[in-house]
Formats: sequence, C-alpha cells, structure tokens
Amino acid sequence: MSTQHDLIVIGAGPGGYVAAIRAAQLGLNVGCVELEPALGGTCLRVGCIPSKALLEASERFHEAQHALASFGVRASGVELDLPTMLARKDTIVEGLTSGIAGLFKKHKITRYFGHGRFTGQAGGDTQVVVRADDGAETALSAPRVIIATGSRLAPLRGVELDGDRVGGSTEALSYPEVPKHLVVIGAGVIGLELGSVWSRLGAQVTVLEYLDRILPGMDEELAREAKRVFEKQGLVFRLGSRVTGARQEGEGAVVEVDGAEPIHCDRVLLSTGRLPNTEGLALDTIGVALDERGRVPVGAHFETSAPGVYAIGDVIRGPMLAHKAEDEGVACAEYLVTGYGHVNYDAIPSVVYTHPEIACVGRTEEELKEAGVPYRKGSFPFMANGRARALGSTEGRVKMLAHAETDRVLGVHILGPRAGDLIAECAVAMEYGASSEDIARACHAHPTLAEVVKEAALAVDKRPIHI
Ligand code: NAI
Repeated sequence: MSTQHDLIVIGAGPGGYVAAIRAAQLGLNVGCVELEPALGGTCLRVGCIPSKALLEASERFHEAQHALASFGVRASGVELDLPTMLARKDTIVEGLTSGIAGLFKKHKITRYFGHGRFTGQAGGDTQVVVRADDGAETALSAPRVIIATGSRLAPLRGVELDGDRVGGSTEALSYPEVPKHLVVIGAGVIGLELGSVWSRLGAQVTVLEYLDRILPGMDEELAREAKRVFEKQGLVFRLGSRVTGARQEGEGAVVEVDGAEPIHCDRVLLSTGRLPNTEGLALDTIGVALDERGRVPVGAHFETSAPGVYAIGDVIRGPMLAHKAEDEGVACAEYLVTGYGHVNYDAIPSVVYTHPEIACVGRTEEELKEAGVPYRKGSFPFMANGRARALGSTEGRVKMLAHAETDRVLGVHILGPRAGDLIAECAVAMEYGASSEDIARACHAHPTLAEVVKEAALAVDKRPIHI
C-alpha cells in the first residue's frame, strides 16, 4: 500500500519547499520528502543564511576595531566572542527553518522524513520510497514528482576531506576557534565570502586559485578591482595555483600546490565547486539518465525523460543559485497546474556578499564582445555618491552595458556597498526590456546608493551629472 499525493517533491531546499508551497496554493495535495531534520536545504541550514549571519557579524567586529573611530565613535576593549557569534547564526537558522515547517503546516503539505528514491512507474503514477534513518520505509505514489535534491561539495582529487581540518563550507561556518592560517582552495563565491569572514575575525587567509583571475564568469574588470580591494583587506591571492592535494597534518593541515612549496596551515576550506545530488535516487528505475556533468537533463518546462517527473534547481542546468531554484520551483508548479510558468534566465542576478558586495545581472562585457554584440558602456563610481561617502563605503562602481543601437540594457555589474540590493532594480528593468534611457529618466531618491545606478545609466549616453 502506498500513500497517494497529487505531487511529491523530493528535497526541501529553496527549490523544493517553494515548489511545494506554490503547488499547494494551486490546490494540489503535496508530499515533500527531506532527509535532514530541518527544512530549507543547504541555503538555510549550511549555506546562504548562516554565511550571511557570519558575514554581518564579522563585519561589525571589523568595523568596531578599524572603522568606527573614523566616524567619531571611540570603542575600546573590543573583543571577539566567537561562541556568541556562532550561536547567533544558529538561532537565525533555527528560526528560519522552523518557519518553513510552519509554512508547510499552513499549506497542509505532508512532510516525509528520510531519503527518497524512485522505484518505478505504473498506471500513470510514479512510485517513491522514503527510507528513514532507522531503516523504516514508506511508499508514496503520485502522478507528478519534482526532483529538487540540490547539490553538495564537489571533491577535488588529492584533497582528503576529514570534516575538521580539511573541509568545505559547512565546516567553515562553525570553526570552534579562529584559525591562525586558513588556506582557501578556489577564489569563487564561497571562498571569497567565507575567506572574508575568517580574515575579519583575525585569520591569515591565503586563497589559491587555479585561474589567473578571481570569480570566473563575473565581469573581468570588476573582478580585478574587487581583488585589489580584498587584498587591501588582507586576503592573499595566489593565482595560477593548481592544488594537487591537501590533508590533515598534526594539529593542522598541509596543502600541495603544483610547482610550489607545500603550504602548512591550521585549516583548509575547499571551495572549487559543487556537484548535483543524484546519488541514491535510483533514477534508472524510471529510465532517466544523467548528462555528462551528472545533472538531470530537462526540457523547457523542467520535464525529464520520464513522464510526470520534473527537476529543478542545482540538479539541472544553469547557475547553482537559491533564487534561480526558487523561481524554477514556482514556474514548475505553475506549469503543472495552469500550463503556464516563467523563468527569464537572461535576468537572474548573482551576488557575492563580500564587503563591498559584487552583484551582476545579464551579460558581461567579455560575453558581448565574444558574441559580436555592439554595446555602449556607462560606468559611475561610488566615490562620487553622497550616500556612499556618508556610509564610509566608497569603493567600486556600477557598470551598465546597453545595446549600441536599441539602448536595451544587456547587463549591469556592480562592485560596491549593498550591490546585492541595488541589482534588484536592474533585474526588474531588464525583465521589462528597459533601455538605459528608461533607467536614467526614472526618479531616484536622493541621497541613496541607487543614484549610482541612475548615473551609470546616464553615463551610457556620456552625460552623467556628478562626474
Ligand atoms: P565557484 O565555481 O564559484 O568557484 C570555484 C573556484 O575554484 C573557481 O575560481 C575555479 O577556477 C577554482 N578552482 C577549481 N579547481 C581548482 C584547483 N584545483 N586549485 C585551485 N583552484 C581551483 O565554486 P564555489 O565557490 O565552491 O561555489 C559553488 C556554487 O555555490 C557556485 O555555483 C556558487 O554560485 C554557489 N554559491 C553562491 C553563493 C551566492 O550566490 N552568494 C554563495 C555560495 C555559493
């Protein structure tokens, strides 16, 4: 006997729980399978949210030590209380994950605790079995199933993860003491965010990056500028460094780099990418084969090769971002019930929560050049903005790229204070097919950081006011 639902969602991360809620809003009887006790997935439990809690807290500590005096605020005896900082982070996570449990209750979504796997398809239904920690199994059945199992740390050959001295982002969110020397492998999003946290708290941080630049995929000019800013903050970058091994050594760890001396340190953070979670789903029982990168292949409506089975988020193509997964969750649920849904992959913002933040939406200058698209570029520095001066955060700029003939905004790249919030305006503008002229003509409150976006739009037409 199996329990019947209209929809089963496997995974309760930002993709899965949002899909479950949207489907329930649309009247479906939804069951959601999650193996972790807390709902919310990597993002809420061990990703976006706890890292932001630590980024904010470490920023306060750093400010109190190094910046408040310049505001005319004298603080003496500033001390780090790491246990309280970590506990605050855990409280925030608990609040949000239990909030999802509340939302599930409100929408009458049945939660199944355990590991979900497919067992086959028959009579228009797909069968899923949930195996709990104690081995007990529950059989479920539904005409529609959404796979939203997310991703996990990708191993790197030679790097021996031990869950302590050599670990990934999960460990780096809970180091019990500030490492004297932290080696970060990979100058991507995770490496820069968590590297910044521990650097502000007093660690010496060395970032080893295989490429000759940081943040591959983001605008090269801004990435170069960001690197200079982070170097001033104390991060040490060794570009062109290919890590060939890392392991625990005594009370610390050692990292081997191709063609260089091994580096001895206290802790190692591996942040060279993530892999889709498809292990143990028994996808073969429903005839779904993975692509060359281990992802579940899907069509335009998230449909897999198995009838009635869909996939969203980190397990499919596209950037591994919580908000991309959320939007796919909503669109997938809407396709299932109404036949319509919408994700505009050309306007998905991306944010790195360093200080200053880095945010972008749309195409980079490099991509436009490569595609031979004629464009005009407008750039405006935060240094020339009154609010940024008052904030004491004047590094960076907004760079806007618009089509040379139509003036349609093709991409916006921001390095600067609250870039992650500023990019929202640009994403909305792009969603509506705005021109740089449209943004330039819209009234922006003064004095705000958003005026830098407006000035960059004016700069596309070579007529910024304040520079
Ligand atoms: P990433 O893909 O952002 O960066 C990995 C970096 O490691 C690259 O710069 C790459 O060139 C480098 N690398 C690869 N092999 C190497 C080697 N052997 N030695 C040295 N360097 C090497 O990966 P990351 O930071 O692990 O993030 C994983 C995913 O999580 C990404 O898709 C990211 O978008 C997402 N994420 C997003 C966040 C956000 O939106 N704020 C925060 C955290 C993660």
